[in-house]
Amino acid sequence: MARTFFVGGNFKLNGSKTSIKEIVDRLNTASIPENVEVVICPPATYLDYTVSLVQKKQVSVGAQNTYVKASGAYTGENSVEQLKDVGAKWVILGHSERREYFKEDDKFVAEKTKFALDNGLGVILCIGETLEEKKAGVTLDVVKRQLDAVIAEVKDWTNVVIAYEPIWAIGSGLAATPEDAQEIHASIRKYLASKLGDKVAEETRILYGGSANGKNAVTFKDKADVDGFLVGGASLKPEFVDIINSRN
Ligand code: G3H
Repeated sequence: MARTFFVGGNFKLNGSKTSIKEIVDRLNTASIPENVEVVICPPATYLDYTVSLVQKKQVSVGAQNTYVKASGAYTGENSVEQLKDVGAKWVILGHSERREYFKEDDKFVAEKTKFALDNGLGVILCIGETLEEKKAGVTLDVVKRQLDAVIAEVKDWTNVVIAYEPIWAIGSGLAATPEDAQEIHASIRKYLASKLGDKVAEETRILYGGSANGKNAVTFKDKADVDGFLVGGASLKPEFVDIINSRN
């Protein structure tokens, strides 16, 4: 089964109405292959606005976070229902910035993943190791631990996309080599097969994230287990279109 190439754009805490309109206008007018799935994730403030601008059927909108309650006294949170109400189809969960700055642990990420999936959002699930962990040779132990927490909660992986994002590569300008990414992605897929069966492993898309850009994206083209990218900084720039077109 061919996995559909997937490119996520994580705007993080960046953007304004003006800059988001520029980004979406660019996508609306760009030539984008039919067989690509693009998900742009602006700050929650701009979700509704972003959805109203998108005109390309290959492009949908996602949130950068959500919570495990449908409603109630949870100041500052955005519920799955609310995200869906304004047109979001996806949510990024487990991003290393949330794990580090907001102390989200594996269990909480897993609970949020289950809640989002059960209530109808697709999940871009981020995993990845720190530089210290890489140097210590424990990358696979780390990603397996992060996956195990979700595997314990989630039985249906149809609407999960995994983003392998080595933390040392995020925003550093130092992307993993295509060969190294392929090796880790293949190991992740093998692990999924051992835990969830061959079908889930074969069908689940595994994205690479960490300093992906308009120039290096094409160098991952022949890597069988790299099914797309989760892009931060470059998703705000014209080169995002080059990343989207890097498989054609
Ligand atoms: O979610 C995206 C990743 O954190 C990658 O960010 O492309 O700016 O390195 P970056």
